[in-house]
Amino acid sequence: MTVRKVGVVGCGLMGSGIAEAAARAGYDVLVREVSEELIGQGKQRIAQSMEKAIEREKMTSAERDLAVERLSYTTKVSELVDRDLIIEAVVEDLEVKRKLFVELDGLCPEHTIFASNTSSLAITDMAAAVKRPDRFLGLHFFNPVPVMKLVEVVRTIATSEKTVSEALDFARRLGKEAVAAKDQAGFIVNLLLVPYMLDAVRQLERGAASMEDLDKAMVLGCGYPMGPIAVIDFVGTDTALRIAEILYDEYREPKYAPPPLLRRIVAMGRYGRKVGRGFYDYSGEVPVPLPV
Ligand code: CAA
Ligand code: NAD
Repeated sequence: MTVRKVGVVGCGLMGSGIAEAAARAGYDVLVREVSEELIGQGKQRIAQSMEKAIEREKMTSAERDLAVERLSYTTKVSELVDRDLIIEAVVEDLEVKRKLFVELDGLCPEHTIFASNTSSLAITDMAAAVKRPDRFLGLHFFNPVPVMKLVEVVRTIATSEKTVSEALDFARRLGKEAVAAKDQAGFIVNLLLVPYMLDAVRQLERGAASMEDLDKAMVLGCGYPMGPIAVIDFVGTDTALRIAEILYDEYREPKYAPPPLLRRIVAMGRYGRKVGRGFYDYSGEVPVPLPV
């Protein structure tokens, strides 16, 4: 069975990136979002990203037009019934994800592969809720999806070889490099990246340096493309907080404990770059640090 039709659930930061990458790779993609307003925002994000890709000579306008034609949108989960692969990229909440997969399980034919893009939940906790755990795996993409080359492929003890091989074909066609990760919360990247990001917030709380200097130090001193505080804003402070809560709940190790400052930023609705404000304000030409 070859994957031809792809479904993406959620058209936020990650869902829009996954949908764009799949459409650019030639797949027929149906995206589900909860409201027409959010579909509009997701479409706009995809259009801006493709515009940037054209500016950077990564694609032509003709390729963009073809990719746009391959994308369609719906607010109804039931319309995903004809998909060969469905990738979930909704909010980082186990109950929301489980409920979605149970609903999809009742609708989709046996061959449909279910994949979660979760950052920090164990795949088994979702796969155990459906009647097709052999057709379930983790496909963890990185933000921004059209640019980042990696996908973590996560199999559970129930995932079949066939499912893994079809998912690997899909990842390759998207131009991604796959790494195999054990089904443990945080997989590979977030086990290492999350303590680093949270530590940067702790250093900020302690007054080790200003947020600009913390970021500048890691960019210029270590050659990272962005500093750790800027990465938290890029991921979304709300998502980063949920990830930290889940990892801390799983491992009970202080390195995953959410710092109080991160909670305060989220409580103020400063969800990061996606809303224009997080640790920094993104309304101008360059990010400006906000009070912390
Ligand atoms: N489509 C295709 N290619 C694009 C593109 C697009 N929309 N936008 C940029 N590019 C390409 C550029 O052409 C360039 O390619 P070359 O190196 O071949 O020239 C490359 O991407 C980088 O371009 P720029 O530096 O000009 O792009 P930028 O400044 O707009 O964006 C960035 C920079 C890619 C975001 C970079 O700052 C970066 O890598 N930041 C770190 C991001 C990061 O850490 N992501 C991981 C977050 S954690 C996560 O995702 C996991 C989780 O579970 C939380
Ligand atoms: P986002 O905040 O940009 O989007 C969240 C999405 O969840 C939206 O589509 C929203 O409509 C949907 N949603 C919210 N509540 C819902 C509900 N009750 N029912 C159904 N849908 C609901 O988040 P994102 O950054 O795109 O993250 C999505 C997933 O991808 C999360 O599991 C996250 O951990 C993971 N992820 C995020 C990143 C990142 O850098 N942001 C990277 C890799 C993986």
